[in-house]
Amino acid sequence: MTAKTFYLETFGCQMNAHDSEKVVGTLLSKGYTQVETPEAAELVLYNTCSIRDKAEQKVFHRLQQFKREGGKGKTFGVLGCVAQQEGEKIFEKAPFVSLVAGSASYTKLPEMLVQLEAGARRVTGLSLDTEETFDTPFTRRDNPHRAYLTIIEGCDKSCAYCVVPFTRGPERSRTSESVLAEVRQLAALGYSEVQLLGQNVNSYRDPSPAGWDFATLLERVGEVDGMRRVRFTTSHPRDFGKSIVDAIDRGPALCNHVHLPVQSGSDRILNAMQRLYTRADYMKRIEWLKNSPRNISITTDIIVGFPGETEADFAQTLDLLNQVEYDSIFSFKYSPRPNTAALAMGDQIPEEEKTRRLTVVQEQQRALQIRRNAEAIGTEQEVLVEGRNAALGQWIGRTSQNRTLNFTHSVAAEDSLIGTYLPVRVTRAGPNSLAGESVISVM
Ligand code: SAH
Ligand code: SF4
Ligand code: F3S
Repeated sequence: MTAKTFYLETFGCQMNAHDSEKVVGTLLSKGYTQVETPEAAELVLYNTCSIRDKAEQKVFHRLQQFKREGGKGKTFGVLGCVAQQEGEKIFEKAPFVSLVAGSASYTKLPEMLVQLEAGARRVTGLSLDTEETFDTPFTRRDNPHRAYLTIIEGCDKSCAYCVVPFTRGPERSRTSESVLAEVRQLAALGYSEVQLLGQNVNSYRDPSPAGWDFATLLERVGEVDGMRRVRFTTSHPRDFGKSIVDAIDRGPALCNHVHLPVQSGSDRILNAMQRLYTRADYMKRIEWLKNSPRNISITTDIIVGFPGETEADFAQTLDLLNQVEYDSIFSFKYSPRPNTAALAMGDQIPEEEKTRRLTVVQEQQRALQIRRNAEAIGTEQEVLVEGRNAALGQWIGRTSQNRTLNFTHSVAAEDSLIGTYLPVRVTRAGPNSLAGESVISVM
C-alpha cells in the first residue's frame, strides 16, 4: 500500500484545535503522513467552525479555491461544526467533497476512509449519539509543554444566538479517573501546563460514582505532581460557583485567570439571550474573583447588536466593561445563525450600527488595557517561555494571568529556554502585551 498523505486545516475554538490533534494522531496511527500544503496531500481535511457566519464562510472559500484550481485525484473532507450543521447539504454546495463528519464521529474516521478507498462515493458521520470516547489513544499534540484536555463535550444551554448545542450536541462529561490518568500521563511526558476544555466546564459532573463537580476535579488536577499550571475554559456564569474561586485560592498550580463571558451588560438583553443570569448575579461572581488574594485576571466575551439592543442597552454594556475592568475581551458583532431562537426575533440591528458599536467597545477597552497593563510595570512575574522572536532578540513568555510578556535574556541561550519557567521584570506595557527583562540567568 502506498503512503497516504493528508493535510488538515483547523478553524474555530480550542476544542476544535484539540479535536484536530486527535484526528492527526488517529491518521498517523493508520499509516498516513501529514503534509504542510493541500497541494501535496491526497486527503484534504478542514476542521470547521460555525460560530459566526464569517467563520462558516471560510471553509466554503477554501473549497471554492479548489473548484477553480482543480483538486483532481484528491479526497476532500469537511469535519467539525459546519459539517454537523450542514450535513449532506455540503455535498450540494461543494460536490467534490466526499466525507462529512461531525466531532462526535471522529473515532469512526479510519473506517469511513476505508469505505472511500473501497469505492464509496460519499460517506457521512453525523450522529450525535455519543459514541465517541474521550480516551483517544492517538492524540498528537502540537505543543510539547502545554496540553489541551477535553473534560466535557457539548452544551445543554440554549443561548438564543448560539449554534453550539446543535453542532456539538448535549453535554457529556468524562470520568474523573480518565481525566486524572491523562493528566498524570501528560506530566510524565514532560508537560507542565494543562488546559481543561469544555463549552461549559462549570457544569462538569463526574459520571463515575465519585460524582465530583468541576471545582473538585480542578483541585485534584492541580495536585498532580509536575503540573505547574492548570487553566480552564469556558465558564458559564450561571454555573460558576464560589467553590471554583476557593479552589484557585488553595491551589498554587491553578492559574490566576478566569474567562467569564458576560455577552451584555443589560438585563433586558441577557434575558432575551436566555443567558440565565442577571447583571447582578454576574457581578456577584466578579466580586468573588476580585476578593481573592490571588490577583485573578478576568476576561470576557461581548456580543454587540443582538436583536432589540437599544442605545441604552449598549450603554449598559460599556458601563459594565468600565465597572469590571477586564484584562482583555473578545468582542463580536451579533451574527444570525441557523436553527437559533434569535433568528426569528424582530428588530435586527443594521450592520453599520453593529460595526459602530463594536468599534466603540474596542476603543474603550483598548484605553482601559493601556492603563491596566501600565500598572504591571515594575512587577516581577513568572513566565512559561513559549517561543522566541529572533528578529527582535526577544523571548515570548506567558504569565499565569495569561498575558503575553516579551522579554530579553542577558545570557546567550539556545532554544532550550522554551518550556522553562523564568521570573521576568516588567519594564514596558502596551494595550495587548507586556515587555521586560529576565531577572536571573539560567545555568
Ligand atoms: N460556551 C461559551 C461560548 C462559546 S462561543 C460560553 O457560553 O461562554 C464563544 C463566543 O462567541 C461566545 O461567548 C459569544 O460571545 C460568541 N458568539 C457565539 N455565538 C455568536 C453569534 N451568533 N454571533 C456573535 N457572537 C457569537
Ligand atoms: Fe453557546 Fe450558550 Fe452553550 Fe456557550 S453556553 S456554547 S454561548 S449555548
Ligand atoms: Fe466554532 Fe464549533 Fe468551537 S462552532 S467555536 S468550532 S464549538
